[in-house]
Amino acid sequence: MVITLIRVMILLKRLSVRVHYGVVKIIPFQATYLDGIVLLEQRAFPVGPYTRRMLEHVFRNPQAFSFVAIDDGKVAGYVVALPLGVESADIESIAVDPANQGNGTGGLLLDAIEQEMKARGFSSSVLEVRDRNTQAINFYRKHGYEIIEHMPKYYHELYEGSRGAYRMAKSLKKD
Ligand SMILES: CC(C)(COP(=O)(O)OP(=O)(O)OC[C@H]1O[C@@H](n2cnc3c(N)ncnc32)[C@H](O)[C@@H]1OP(=O)(O)O)[C@@H](O)C(=O)NCCC(=O)NCCS
Repeated sequence: MVITLIRVMILLKRLSVRVHYGVVKIIPFQATYLDGIVLLEQRAFPVGPYTRRMLEHVFRNPQAFSFVAIDDGKVAGYVVALPLGVESADIESIAVDPANQGNGTGGLLLDAIEQEMKARGFSSSVLEVRDRNTQAINFYRKHGYEIIEHMPKYYHELYEGSRGAYRMAKSLKKD
C-alpha cells in the first residue's frame, strides 16, 4: 500500500515536471517585467533581496543582459549578468519563484545566460553565492561551477549566521 502510494507520488512529480517544461518560456528581459522581478526577489531571498532601486540600477546598465522565465504569463524566474573585464561575465542575480523551484526553470535560465555569454565572446562565467546557501551551491555544482574563492565578509546582512560568500566559476570553452 505504502509502496503503491510512493509510486503514484513519483509519477505525479514526473508529470508536473513535464507540464512545467511545456509551459515555462525563457525570453529576453523587458522593462514590463520589472514589477514581477521585484516581487520575485522578495519571495525568493529571505535575506537581502534586491530592492526596486537596485534592480533598476542593474537593468539601466547598457552592458547588462538578462532573461526572464514566464509561466502562465507571470514572472517565474530571472537571471541578469554583467561583464567582469573582457574575459568573464558575472551573474549578478538568478532567482526562481519558490512555487516553481525544483522544476528545471533555474537550469533553463542558467543555460540561456551562458549561451548569451558565449555569443558575446566571454570565456568564463563567474558568480557569488552565500556560503550557507547549500541549495544554490549544489545547483551551480551540478551545472559545472567550481568554488574559486571564499570571501568571509562579502555580504552586509547575516544569512544562517554568516556574511560569507563563495566565488564560483565555470569555463565556457569546454562545452
Ligand atoms: C538556486 C535556484 C535559482 C535554482 O532554481 P531551480 O529552478 O530551483 O533549479 P532547477 O529546478 O533547475 O534545479 C534544482 C536543483 O537545485 C537543487 N535543489 C534541491 N532542493 C531543491 C528545492 N527544494 N528546490 C529547488 N531546488 C532544489 C538541486 O541541486 C536540484 O537538482 P536536481 O534536479 O538534481 O534535484 C533557486 O532555487 C532559487 O531561486 N533559490 C533562491 C534564490 C537563490 O538562492 N538564488 C541564487 C543566489 S546566488
